[in-house]
Amino acid sequence: MITHWSATKTAQPVPLSVPHMAGNEWQYVREAIESGWVSTAGPHVERFEAAVARRALVRYGIATSSGTAALHTALVVAGIEADDEVLVSTLTFIASANAIRYAGANPVLIDAEPNYWQIDPNLVEEFLTRRCESKNGVLLNKATGRRVKGIVPVHIMGHPVDLDPIYDLARRFGLVVIEDAAEAIGADYKARPVGRTDSIAVYSFNGNKIITAGGGGMILTDRPDWAERAKYLTTQAKDDPIEYIHGAIGFNYRLTNMQAALGLAQLESLEEFVAYKRSIAWRYQSLLADVPGISTMPEAAWARSTFWLYTLLIDPEKFGSDSRELANRLQSLGIQTRPLWQPMHLSKPHGPCEVMGGEVAERLFRQSISIPCSVDLDLDQVDEIASIIRSHARA
Ligand SMILES: Cc1ncc(COP(=O)(O)O)c(C=O)c1O
Repeated sequence: MITHWSATKTAQPVPLSVPHMAGNEWQYVREAIESGWVSTAGPHVERFEAAVARRALVRYGIATSSGTAALHTALVVAGIEADDEVLVSTLTFIASANAIRYAGANPVLIDAEPNYWQIDPNLVEEFLTRRCESKNGVLLNKATGRRVKGIVPVHIMGHPVDLDPIYDLARRFGLVVIEDAAEAIGADYKARPVGRTDSIAVYSFNGNKIITAGGGGMILTDRPDWAERAKYLTTQAKDDPIEYIHGAIGFNYRLTNMQAALGLAQLESLEEFVAYKRSIAWRYQSLLADVPGISTMPEAAWARSTFWLYTLLIDPEKFGSDSRELANRLQSLGIQTRPLWQPMHLSKPHGPCEVMGGEVAERLFRQSISIPCSVDLDLDQVDEIASIIRSHARA
């Protein structure tokens, strides 16, 4: 049962999205502390891994200290090597592109499609057919001569990527798929949980996600060799349980038992949280869809979105002001908002990377405003925020 904030209305600041802790969080964290297992081993880590994997319908879950760590490790175990090229959405949080760089590889940035804001499979195909060639069974970028090895579809904002065309292209061109599902636990693609991967996928349990472990991530796969390698690399690649003998350059990427305890309790509430976030989304949709210049958040017929961060697009011509002016107005009333991310091809660290398109991501970045949608948010507050936004139209 979700208990919401009392009718604080806008007299109190309304955060964008904050964790909701009303289940077994205290109990499980206390158990972890009382057991003495507080660090990077312990029964809650294993229970959390098993529970997340079971929910995602995959055989293995490997817990990590963050989603970024999960993504870095997943890229390495999936065979991404130094100097390879890896396709990734340009409209994403920077960790997706950074992790490719940590692996020593080079991102190729792909624009979003305009309907659901996810990586555009047509541009992926165009890059692979026009800009690449196969030599001795190896796919090479004609301009750089580098091996094109993988693709990272990022399920952004709690909405799935249309995966079938991505996997079709990956099979056709021999690419490995590493799904960045950091923002999409709880979402479904064609009635399958996002994270139920035919390759390898990752979740994040950062504090701003639908469920949190305080911080943390999870690698998901059906492949025993990848699961074993991921566990090995995330635990400093130790070859002997007693002696300090290491067989590779590993990482200190394991999740702590205390965090796993928190994550485990949060996972028990996931379905309830998603259902409530969906009701917030419908409420915003019913109150704002008819306002000239506002586009409410889309959901594909083949998708069940979690509406992780509820995001509007504002067309300044029709609305009368732009997304940043609206953000300032809401900020002045204590209502927290944020835009989508600066597309990677405009960012300082990834700007020099090759890009396919980019205009859609730029428009989405410019027009976007994410508005409060915590599981704690009262539907009365949703009504009030929607009415402030309505009143700002052509104000
Ligand atoms: C798309 C995406 N990828 C990766 C990450 C990295 O996850 P973490 O913050 O747990 O490292 C995040 C979010 O934080 C994200 O939104």
